[in-house]
Amino acid sequence: MSDLDVLLQEDRSFPPPPQFSAQAHTAGADIYRDAARDPDAFWARMARELTWIEPFTRVLDWKPPHAQWFADGTLNASANCLDRHVDGPRRNKAAIVWEGEPGDRRTLTYWDLYREVNLFAKVLDRLGVKKGDRVAIYLPMIPEAVVAMLGCARVGAVHSVVFGGFSPESLRDRINDSRCKLLITADRGYRRGQVVPLKRNADRALEETPSIENVIVVRRRPGAEGDLAFPEIVEGRDHWWHRLMHDAEHDGESFVREPEAMNAEDLLYILYTSGTTGKPKGIVHTTGGYMTGVAATTKYVFDLKDEDVYWCTADIGWVTGHSYIVYGPLAVGATCVVYEGAPDWPDKDRFWQICERYGVTIFYTAPTAIRAFMKWGTEFPARRDLSRLRLLGSVGEPINPEAWMWYHEHIGGGRCPIVDTWWQTETGAIMITPLPGVTATKPGSATVPFPGVSAALLDSLGKEIPEGGGLLALTRPWPSMLRTIWGDDDRYVQTYFSKWEGRPDLYFPGDGAKRDADGYYWILGRVDDVLNVAGHRIGTMEVESALVDHPAVAEAAVVGKVHELKGQAIAAFVTLRSGHQPSGELRDELREHVAEKIGAIARPDDILFSADLPKTRSGKIMRRLLRDIAEGRALGDTTTLADPGVVASLKEQYEHQE
Ligand code: PRX
Repeated sequence: MSDLDVLLQEDRSFPPPPQFSAQAHTAGADIYRDAARDPDAFWARMARELTWIEPFTRVLDWKPPHAQWFADGTLNASANCLDRHVDGPRRNKAAIVWEGEPGDRRTLTYWDLYREVNLFAKVLDRLGVKKGDRVAIYLPMIPEAVVAMLGCARVGAVHSVVFGGFSPESLRDRINDSRCKLLITADRGYRRGQVVPLKRNADRALEETPSIENVIVVRRRPGAEGDLAFPEIVEGRDHWWHRLMHDAEHDGESFVREPEAMNAEDLLYILYTSGTTGKPKGIVHTTGGYMTGVAATTKYVFDLKDEDVYWCTADIGWVTGHSYIVYGPLAVGATCVVYEGAPDWPDKDRFWQICERYGVTIFYTAPTAIRAFMKWGTEFPARRDLSRLRLLGSVGEPINPEAWMWYHEHIGGGRCPIVDTWWQTETGAIMITPLPGVTATKPGSATVPFPGVSAALLDSLGKEIPEGGGLLALTRPWPSMLRTIWGDDDRYVQTYFSKWEGRPDLYFPGDGAKRDADGYYWILGRVDDVLNVAGHRIGTMEVESALVDHPAVAEAAVVGKVHELKGQAIAAFVTLRSGHQPSGELRDELREHVAEKIGAIARPDDILFSADLPKTRSGKIMRRLLRDIAEGRALGDTTTLADPGVVASLKEQYEHQE
């Protein structure tokens, strides 16, 4: 049965629990109606919940496909996350409750974080980092990662966080694309009991990053040096974080570094994400609109209250970490749990142990994790007290109804609403989601657009499909939308606003969806050559480029195949250069080669050697057929192929591979 068929049969519906609705931020008002009446006025109201240095008078300037929001206002993102809380009753409230994988713990109050961020901003000043300069951050999930991001925001530098699991080459390319001046990294991180030697990886990247002037290195775990050679420190270029912070603290002046007044449209950050070409795109987010989007969605989607203990399990290397670990939750003054490591280390109940230990009330994770929990069994959550949980969230990929129901029963105890939140790196904030006190949920559906957001299902000609399957579109600009692709505005226009001819006002996210009779959206996944492996976005072209980079490979085609846990897994079809023979060793070598080039998340699950790849008569690789082969489906029409025999032999090989 296809995904669509499964979803068409899903008719369970869960109204919001009355006790939840009664206490929710949405109680007593109809924010859908308010927003629908005048979306710009709604967003302006949301924006005014932030603290502005110079209040804005303009709301939206829309010259499709370029938007500006609140363009004559000034504000600072770090001041919105910190300064406004330390002047009030949240001053001594826990902002970050951190746990490292080895079990080390730290709690930073809003005051602590405020102090650290100010000191770090002074460090940035001293290293000559100025407003508009780009700073690369390559750190594990430690409090310093948050301090580094907010420190950049404070001085007006643009951060570019690179996921710690990315390879040296991936780091190098991202640094070079936006010419970062400074790199912030750590001697190590921990993952499944293993040390991740971040500084060593960074050193390999730094061999070819001429724009980098300085490197700041966090000592992740002082006193635990034994298991890793001390990283090499290059005199004059590399600086220990703790030394710089110590010097900033003892410079005889106040620790306060006033926040830079940023125009609402000044850049806050760049975050690279995969697209349909081999080169990741630097998604550009600005300050005022982004902060408005993340603060409003954090407040209403997660119904965050001062008493909550909120935990988003993402890594700050992804947009979910930016918006829903750092900027959104801190802007609304939440207590956030931050955890460094894997969910099954040292045992498969680690997440539930953390929920119990800190009394987590709101928990936000990805379907791939939920499917792993299901596979591990109910005994792990059952060991722990999860009774404080009141709301659950899901993000990153479609959640299958079975996983939704399991999450609802075994983690939520049948009482917690689930918010399945659809959005993207480009959208900055959640776009399609239930509001937990208002929207009845249906397992597998992200439900309806957030107030102020307009979506539609369109066919390829741009005609609206009221009910059924089609292409998802966002039909009005929204404050937290990407502004451009760093250094490539044409690509911005081409990728996102050129799907429907003559309609540069329609944003195309690259997803297919279904709309039901109630107007609910059911996201089906990417319709372009982008894969979603365990919630991570990977371009087929990136993996193909990494494969053809290997001397044995002549040509490669990569497709996603359905995978029980990861959602999608990577299957690669490879033709070899003459003189090279297929072998198990070569297969392993190629898998490693991709992991080395991009990062372990891109390591293909399957590699199939083939004498030829199925192509149309015009020479285009027919991925649809390869997907059918990889998923073991009966083959459809192959008559347009140049050589139908290629497919039959591929299929046979696939079925017989070990
Ligand atoms: O295909 C959609 C899927 O993830 C893509 C965006 O990936 P990324 O930019 O890495 O951001 C992930 C976290 C926001 C989308 O195009 N996706 C994200 N959330 C959902 C989803 N698919 C279905 N349901 C979701 N809730």
